Amino acid sequence: MIEKPMQAFLMEHPQMKYTFFGGKGGVGKTVLAGATALWFAKQGKRTLLASTNPVHSLTGLLDQDVYGTPTPVEGQPNLIAYEIDTRETIDRSKQEIREKISWFLKFADIKTKADEFVESATMNPAFEESAMFENMIDLMFEDEYDTYVFDTAPTANARRLLGMSSVYSMWVNKMVKSREEAKSLRELLSYSRRKEEKDPLMEYLLNLRERMSHAKDLLTNPDLTAFFFVTLPEALPIAVITRFINWFDEFGIPVGGVVVNMAIDETTVTEDAPDFVKNRFDMKTGYMKKIANILDGDVRANVQLFETEVRGVTMLGRTAEYLFA
Ligand SMILES: Nc1ncnc2c1ncn2[C@@H]1O[C@H](COP(=O)(O)OP(=O)(O)O)[C@@H](O)[C@H]1O
Ligand SMILES: [Mg+2]
Repeated sequence: MIEKPMQAFLMEHPQMKYTFFGGKGGVGKTVLAGATALWFAKQGKRTLLASTNPVHSLTGLLDQDVYGTPTPVEGQPNLIAYEIDTRETIDRSKQEIREKISWFLKFADIKTKADEFVESATMNPAFEESAMFENMIDLMFEDEYDTYVFDTAPTANARRLLGMSSVYSMWVNKMVKSREEAKSLRELLSYSRRKEEKDPLMEYLLNLRERMSHAKDLLTNPDLTAFFFVTLPEALPIAVITRFINWFDEFGIPVGGVVVNMAIDETTVTEDAPDFVKNRFDMKTGYMKKIANILDGDVRANVQLFETEVRGVTMLGRTAEYLFA
């Protein structure tokens, strides 16, 4: 029934280095990222399972404190888990912005205090999101592991980055050119011919252009990157991932496929099952058909609904059996 299962997909992409799991809240992104990371680790790859979520998701999943620093998962030689400290990341980003704004105000000879600007630049939810995105990109650039599994796909940010990067690159090139012209003119006119002071704003722009284009290269390379979308056999999560997939196709971000989670095992729905179970099963079956219709060749696995929540490495192993069936 599944044209190309997860395992076959990953075998076809032996260089796969950055996998992401996206979808609506509560559909099982963290669980499936964990199961995937466990599978990679068992293949002998040094694997970083990273979370950029502002909640204690991985620590709960693994029943082990992995907060704030990459931590080896007990009993799993190649698996390292890392729950990024959101607070610290955000504070660091704020500090960097403060320094840039202060520098700029001084440069432009404006007497206003930086604080007001810092507040307005950082007091919105998109700021936290993009701080986490920056953090994720840093991890990717450091390149310390064979493969990385991120438990949340930065859908909005990835899209923004890719949509912006060509425009941005053009803009920075223009800025750099006119700044260089101005600089050589100043040097020409000055008697002393002393070298211009370092230009931190220019350095920042150049550095940002470099980062953006590097991130774009990695995130659009289908040999290295795959975004997987998780859905339940239910209306809302299906609508969410359909929208995500369309966005991603539009921007050339590689979609690895769709994982259907919490499907009900048919054999458990006996004649004497309560109506509640029978109805849920019928409903889910209807949506399974819908998924098969609209996402046709993209489904990589059906993971069944377990009798308990998924916690600890043993349960993750059970999940991986379905995911890589
Ligand atoms: N196949 C499954 N069977 C039973 N419980 C599941 C399954 N998948 C996920 N869960 C549970 O559902 C809850 C949400 O999963 P989680 O991975 O945290 O979702 P997300 O990261 O998308 O918000 C967790 O309590 C998890 O243990
Ligand atoms: Mg999660």
